[in-house]
Amino acid sequence: MKKWSIASIPGDGVGKEVVPAGQKVLDTVAEVHGGLSFEFTSFPWSCEYYLQHGVMMPENGLDQLKDFDAIFLGAVGNLDLVPDHISLWGLLIKIRREFEQVINIRPAKQLKGVTSPLVNPKEFDLLVVRENSEGEYSSIGGRMNKGEDELAIQNAVFSRKASERAMRYAFDLAAKRRQHVTSATKSNGIVYSMPFWDDVFTDVSKDYPSIQTDSQHIDALAAFFVTQPERFDVIVASNLFGDILTDIGAAIMGSVGIAPAANINVNGAYPSMFEPVHGSAPDIFGKGIANPIGQIWTAKLMLDHLGEVELGEKLLDVIEETTTAGILTADIGGNYSTEQVTNDIINRLRSL
Ligand code: NAI
Ligand code: MG
Repeated sequence: MKKWSIASIPGDGVGKEVVPAGQKVLDTVAEVHGGLSFEFTSFPWSCEYYLQHGVMMPENGLDQLKDFDAIFLGAVGNLDLVPDHISLWGLLIKIRREFEQVINIRPAKQLKGVTSPLVNPKEFDLLVVRENSEGEYSSIGGRMNKGEDELAIQNAVFSRKASERAMRYAFDLAAKRRQHVTSATKSNGIVYSMPFWDDVFTDVSKDYPSIQTDSQHIDALAAFFVTQPERFDVIVASNLFGDILTDIGAAIMGSVGIAPAANINVNGAYPSMFEPVHGSAPDIFGKGIANPIGQIWTAKLMLDHLGEVELGEKLLDVIEETTTAGILTADIGGNYSTEQVTNDIINRLRSL
């Protein structure tokens, strides 16, 4: 009997509604499989926790998390209680940084039964691998002068190590998918970092002769995400480019409520963290109508990461059966509750 120990951090707002839903689904996956189980340990770290303790997580919080097989997180942020820069940096971003979660992955796929805002979408199924540790989001730079001489400099940092790491991750994923990697570049406009990125991409691609590649400038690539998303398999991108592309990816799926994500530690020193793209959705919290699919699809990414790929595929099939049957929450045009959608997925898993 395999037992996965999972640290669960519901966090704030709808995180508290969708994380329990995700856990119930994972328990059902285990029950149906028979040979494995999940042991969840829940941590109350959140904005409410901050009001009581003055910190988003205890000083030894990372120590408490480091031996788990994975972290399953909902959302962080409650502007009525704590400013975002304190809540997000005190918990979410701290875990991502300290646990060296250097890669962020976000799939975007057209789920049957969910209306895309694209007028006539072909079936698309793509996966963005985003370098998550450096690039444009660096802390090197500064501001000086005042008045009309005021200026700011922000340096982008591209290392061979981090670029190559993200690219290899993308190639390895493509090898299990449709054998194609697209590199997001802008070497026609950014004359040092992007030609360097292109060189590393060319070098890495030599190690994967059976994978097809292409490079697209980010502006054209962003447009293709809207006009022809079906042409992509895996896309590898720098931190900023990946951030923008993944938001387009979530948008063309139909709702941020269904978009999943993972922050991956690749050196095995710390656990990876699985969290949906959406935030705490204060506007709908407490009504029982949050879409649980983002969190449940995120659970699928966690299954993949733990090596339970077949189970992950089954789970995604079942999610799609539920959407096809029209069991939808309000954000994607239905009037079912979080619980009804979750139970429908659970019942379908049980009858597999
Ligand atoms: P948000 O993602 O929470 O909400 C944006 C819109 O999407 C809202 O209309 C909301 O109702 C809807 N939505 C989000 N999740 C949904 C779900 N599961 N089902 C149905 N509809 C859903 O983004 P917003 O409003 O900008 O941020 C709210 C709080 O969440 C802020 O404190 C923000 O900092 C935080 N946040 C946290 C993130 C994280 O934990 N990774 C990511 C984004 C925002
Ligand atoms: Mg973003």
